Amino acid sequence: MALIDCIVLTGAAGRLGRSLRPGLAASCRELRVLDQAPLTPEHANETAFQIDLNDETALKEVLQGASAVVHFAGYPREAQWNVLLPANIEGTIKLWDQAHTAGVDRIIYATSNHAVGLYPRDRPLDELVHPLPDSRYGLSKVFMEGLASLYAIKHGVRGFGMRIGHCAPEPTDARMLSHWIHPEDLAALVSVGLHADYENEIVYGASDNMRSWWPNARARELGYHPRHSADAFIEQLKGCVSNDPVAERFQGGSFASNGFSNVRTTQR
Ligand SMILES: NC(=O)c1ccc[n+]([C@@H]2O[C@H](COP(=O)([O-])OP(=O)(O)OC[C@H]3O[C@@H](n4cnc5c(N)ncnc54)[C@H](O)[C@@H]3O)[C@@H](O)[C@H]2O)c1
Repeated sequence: MALIDCIVLTGAAGRLGRSLRPGLAASCRELRVLDQAPLTPEHANETAFQIDLNDETALKEVLQGASAVVHFAGYPREAQWNVLLPANIEGTIKLWDQAHTAGVDRIIYATSNHAVGLYPRDRPLDELVHPLPDSRYGLSKVFMEGLASLYAIKHGVRGFGMRIGHCAPEPTDARMLSHWIHPEDLAALVSVGLHADYENEIVYGASDNMRSWWPNARARELGYHPRHSADAFIEQLKGCVSNDPVAERFQGGSFASNGFSNVRTTQR
């Protein structure tokens, strides 16, 4: 595959950002890694920037001449709005706006299963289902998906949103038998986002799991071929469920049940 000129990785000091760095460094001439947390270059073609996404002047400099952004910065779980707004909404607005101004071709971004976490587990989801966020966090991801589609269709900044399940070396509970993704498969999905031809896509970030809620047809069509599967863990994890009937009912699990107060639903 041809080398990409310049990729900017946001959230590079984070759990997923760190696991993506080696593959991204190998796929481009120049990798600019960005995080609000301290980070140092780890590859010969890397430059590190310790900046907050909300610092527009610094962001503008980092994005100058970049071909693609791989966006993994953000607050990765439920929180109050004063935490989620700057990290997942305001910073994201600035990122898309500055990327557009800088002429960036595409943004590959981490959305989440929690953007659709209030769908029941027996409902398979395609890429076109309307969002049903299960939390303020999930709603912040829905905002990002909407922002990406606005900039993709109206302004030509391609958007590739990955509704990631749970990324870890191994699945550790029964819910993950459906939505787990191995870090190597996530790297492969990001690579599809970097190389495929599309305008505005939402795909699902899961390995090849027999129990998946997401057929993920569009990702496969674009070239995603996951090499890992949670199926080998079915026996081991089958009893590994919560004692929470609301969490067990919804795809979003404990994010859906956290603060759940809809009496009509619980009585059904
Ligand atoms: N870990 C998962 O399985 C999973 C699943 C679904 C979605 N995601 C999404 O993937 C992304 C990365 O998740 P993670 O598990 O690596 O989280 P993480 O918390 O380990 O990493 C996120 C990084 O973003 C940085 N960051 C936050 N706000 C910032 C800001 N305003 N400016 C600059 N940097 C900022 C943090 O310093 C951190 O290093 C998040 O958007 C998360 O919502 C993760």
